[in-house]
Amino acid sequence: MTDMTQGVAQDADQNTTHFGFRTVNKDEKVGMVANVFHSVAAKYDIMNDVMSMGIHRIWKRFTIDCSGVRPGHRVLDLAGGTGDLTAKFSRIVGEKGQVVLADINNSMLNVGRDKLRDLGIVGNVNYVQANAEELPFPDNYFDCITIGFGLRNVTDKDKALRSMYRVLKPGGRLLVLEFSKPVLEPLSKVYDAYSFHLLPKMGEIIANDAESYRYLAESIRMHPDQDTLKGMMETAGFEQTKYFNLTGGIVALHRGYKF
Ligand SMILES: C[S@@+](CC[C@H](N)C(=O)[O-])C[C@H]1O[C@@H](n2cnc3c(N)ncnc32)[C@H](O)[C@@H]1O
Repeated sequence: MTDMTQGVAQDADQNTTHFGFRTVNKDEKVGMVANVFHSVAAKYDIMNDVMSMGIHRIWKRFTIDCSGVRPGHRVLDLAGGTGDLTAKFSRIVGEKGQVVLADINNSMLNVGRDKLRDLGIVGNVNYVQANAEELPFPDNYFDCITIGFGLRNVTDKDKALRSMYRVLKPGGRLLVLEFSKPVLEPLSKVYDAYSFHLLPKMGEIIANDAESYRYLAESIRMHPDQDTLKGMMETAGFEQTKYFNLTGGIVALHRGYKF
C-alpha cells in the first residue's frame, strides 16, 4: 500500500497519541474526537451510505451473522453511534433480552435514539453515555459486545479492550468491526486516491465538513493492521481470536471469546 503516513510524526510516546496523522497529547484527543462526531452527527447516516456506496450495511449484516446472539441475550453495542447494530440486535434479543447502545458522544446518541424510536424500537434498548476505556457495567454482564468503527477513535485501545473483557460474560464474544489494511496492492492505490481526495470533498458537500472526513482517512491509516489488532485482543485476554477480511481488507471483523 502507498505509505500516506510518510513524513508525519509517528512516534507517539507515553503522553502522546495520534489524531489522524498528528501527534497530540493524550488528554487532548478525546475532545478532538468529540468535535468530529458533534459536527457530523446529523449527517452521519447519509454520509455512511454515500461514501461506502451502501456497503457498510453488508459489513454490519456480517457482524450480526457472526455474533451468535439469540433471544434473551444481553448485548453491548459500544461506540454504537446512530444505532445500526443496536436496531438489528433489538429485534433478535426480543422482549426478554436487552441491548445497551453506549457512546461517548451525546450528539451521536441523540441521533441514534431518535432514529430507533422512529423505527418503533423501544422497550429493550438502553442508551448510556460512556467511554469505552471505563465501561460503567458490572463484571461478566454481556453475552456479546460489538464495537463498530469505534475502536479507531479511542485514545487508549488496550485499556478499552481490557474494559470490554471485564464486562463480557465467560463464553461471550467480542466483535470488532473496523477499517483495516487492504490486502491487494492495486486496491490500495485506488483506495488511497479515493479516501484522501474524494472523501474530504464529499464531507464538504454533504456534511459541510471536509476536515472530519480528512481525519477519517488519516485515522484509518494509523489504526493497527489485522494481525496487530488480533495480538492486542489476545493481550487483553481474548481467546480463539480470528479475523475476517471484508471487501479486500478495507474492513476487517475481529472476533474473540472470553472463557
Ligand atoms: C464512526 S462512528 C461508528 C458508529 C456506529 N458504531 C456505526 O458503525 O455506524 C464512531 C463512534 O465512536 C464513538 N466513540 C469515539 N470514542 C469513543 C470512546 N472512547 N468511547 C465510546 N465511544 C466512542 C463516537 O462518538 C462515534 O459515535
